[in-house]
Amino acid sequence: MSAYDLLLKRRSVRAYTDKPVSNKQIEKILTAASYAPSAKGRQPFAFLAVTNPKIIQTLSQLNADVMRKANPDYQGDPFYGAPCVFGVLVLKDLPTRELDGAAAIENMLLAACSLGLGSCWINRAREVFETREGKEILNQAGIDSEAYTGIGFVIAGEAANGVSYEAASRKSVIGVIQ
Ligand SMILES: Cc1cc2nc3c(=O)[nH]c(=O)nc-3n(C[C@H](O)[C@H](O)[C@H](O)COP(=O)(O)O)c2cc1C
Repeated sequence: MSAYDLLLKRRSVRAYTDKPVSNKQIEKILTAASYAPSAKGRQPFAFLAVTNPKIIQTLSQLNADVMRKANPDYQGDPFYGAPCVFGVLVLKDLPTRELDGAAAIENMLLAACSLGLGSCWINRAREVFETREGKEILNQAGIDSEAYTGIGFVIAGEAANGVSYEAASRKSVIGVIQ
């Protein structure tokens, strides 16, 4: 598939099988993330890659706790049962932190798609990694929880059978001057 076709093919996947994401696949997604553009070329990223089901469950619960602040009845799994969860973090004092992080996240989604994996961008990383448990997970992984802020999560895995992912119709405003 051409890179251009890949851009159009990627869709958010919200149902997964239990098939593990291999270390090689994780490495490729992280390499793609590290090649994202960043303001002034700072590469201010920290990436957390989690396949440990207990840690994924803890992060999912922390994420759901944040969701419940807006929607007290929320009962779901914000990570949709994905076997691999990435946290994308950026040095917290940078004014471009969200922009830098977003560029890395998009690279990861596209890399996952190119490897035949489903993926989805998941919100609320900032709040999750501001909690005591979230910080402990970062520190356990060797990421300085005081230096970085969460920008987003990327979940990845084998898409469950029978789930189809159609792109919504496009509605960008485009102005052309020739
Ligand atoms: C900033 C941002 C936050 C998102 N957060 C979530 C999320 O928390 N949960 C989720 O299921 N999808 C999330 N998404 C995925 C969008 O819902 C998805 O991209 C959109 O519905 C379009 O679908 P597509 O990715 O298949 O084109 C997020 C996307 C972006 C860009």
